[in-house]
Amino acid sequence: MLLKIYPGNVNRALDDEHKPLLKGYGLGRDGKIYLEYLTDSISGKRQVVAALMPGGTPTIYHDCKSFEGPSPKPCWHLGAMSLAMPGHVPMPVNVERYQVTPVPIIKDLTEGILDRPGDFELLELVEDDSMTGEAEELVVPELPKEDSWIARYNLPVRVLKKVLAFREKQKETLTDEQKARIPEAKYIPSGNEFISAVSAMVYGPEGKRWEAPLLIGPKGSGKSTMAESLAAVFMLPVNKIFGGIDLNAEALLGARTLVPSEGIDLVTEAKLRSACKAAGMDSEPLVQKVRGAQMKIGFEPGILLQAVEKGEMIVVDEINMVIPEVTSLLHGLLDWQKTLSVPGYGTVTAPSSFRLVGCMNFGYSGTKNINEAFQDRFRSIQVPHLSSIQLANLVSQETGCKDANSRKLADLFEKLAQGVANGDFSERVLSIRALFRVAREEMDGCGMLKTVATSVLTEGLNDKFEVAQVSDIIEACIRD
Ligand SMILES: Nc1ncnc2c1ncn2[C@@H]1O[C@H](COP(=O)(O)OP(=O)(O)OP(=O)(O)O)[C@@H](O)[C@H]1O
Ligand SMILES: [Mg+2]
Repeated sequence: MLLKIYPGNVNRALDDEHKPLLKGYGLGRDGKIYLEYLTDSISGKRQVVAALMPGGTPTIYHDCKSFEGPSPKPCWHLGAMSLAMPGHVPMPVNVERYQVTPVPIIKDLTEGILDRPGDFELLELVEDDSMTGEAEELVVPELPKEDSWIARYNLPVRVLKKVLAFREKQKETLTDEQKARIPEAKYIPSGNEFISAVSAMVYGPEGKRWEAPLLIGPKGSGKSTMAESLAAVFMLPVNKIFGGIDLNAEALLGARTLVPSEGIDLVTEAKLRSACKAAGMDSEPLVQKVRGAQMKIGFEPGILLQAVEKGEMIVVDEINMVIPEVTSLLHGLLDWQKTLSVPGYGTVTAPSSFRLVGCMNFGYSGTKNINEAFQDRFRSIQVPHLSSIQLANLVSQETGCKDANSRKLADLFEKLAQGVANGDFSERVLSIRALFRVAREEMDGCGMLKTVATSVLTEGLNDKFEVAQVSDIIEACIRD
């Protein structure tokens, strides 16, 4: 959500009522600036707001009553936060609505803002002499203009620096064809999951080592969207494979084939030309023909081998459905050596840009459990459904439907999710894609929102009891 901080918000933060509530500002270990404040002067309850300023529009992490309702407003907390941020008010900021979890802070910034040292309880100050270097290291780098969108993922400074270095290399080496295969970053994080995945993909000094993220979550929770957004962050062209019995080693690695060979050997060509000359014929068309007919045994690389050799990204969807023959191929790529053995071709060491991301759905009918030793080679990451507010925004964005309808649909989804969690009905009824369908069909004039929702959400169910329960929930959430 984009909001503007106005002089009025700053003045309120500094008035006699609010200034005493400000307890301290600090630089967090993750490069964000934190503000600890009292929620009111009586209860003594404290809370924390955070801000990140990576070059572009700053992001503030804060949840507040003034953001509720159809027209969210900036609050005095944002005004207070702006005191620690360079720039002038009115200042546009992205607001991410959630309660901030405090992190250790490595520098007290309060003196420069409130003329007194910070008084922290929730934030723990770990400042000492050895931290000075660390604080310097945490200066947020300026993002190049074309990379400014990365700021919305709020990567910790250390991770952001490694990502930017990775992208610089990619910019130098990718061909236009490869650049065209880099997806757009559409994923909206619901918590820390995106940061965890990016951090796993560039760990160690200068981000030279990496672990493959394994994105685990219910159907439609955004796993594939997240995998593509990771590729966008790392500027990697994407190659996708889907687990199942059709996916075998040959399809992934490739196979020997006959390929046209270029040219004929010089002796044969000379013999052919002299024979033509003796017969009074033009030798050129014949030589050309023989050239085309020459074949040799070659190797046609499969999708995985190509991705590895070119240092691109491979996304393995439904990885728990992958057959053991393929799992053992992937082992070598996930271990520290990062190699792929290809019978009849040799062992290929993946270039430093190569990355792999797995996706899977636990306990959904038709899925299998993943082998423990295989899963241990990944950084497992849960990809939950979006919160109700985020979901409402996504439905509006995707379909262009009225805000009132997207809110009703997000509310419906939340109630259905509760039903699934209580075991009232199966996970089948919970589908973000179905919400998009409902919104679109209503806009196309196929019926009232409730009618369309009932049709879309229940016609695929064959259990009458389930149909009745889902219909009741629709009835309760959508009153057309
Ligand atoms: N967090 C999110 N951010 C952005 N889009 C999302 C998010 N969650 C779901 N979506 C949208 O919902 C739809 C389904 O998402 P996606 O295909 O990524 O889910 P999935 O988890 O891979 O599903 P499946 O388990 O069926 O493979 C897409 O249109 C996607 O844009
Ligand atoms: Mg998917």
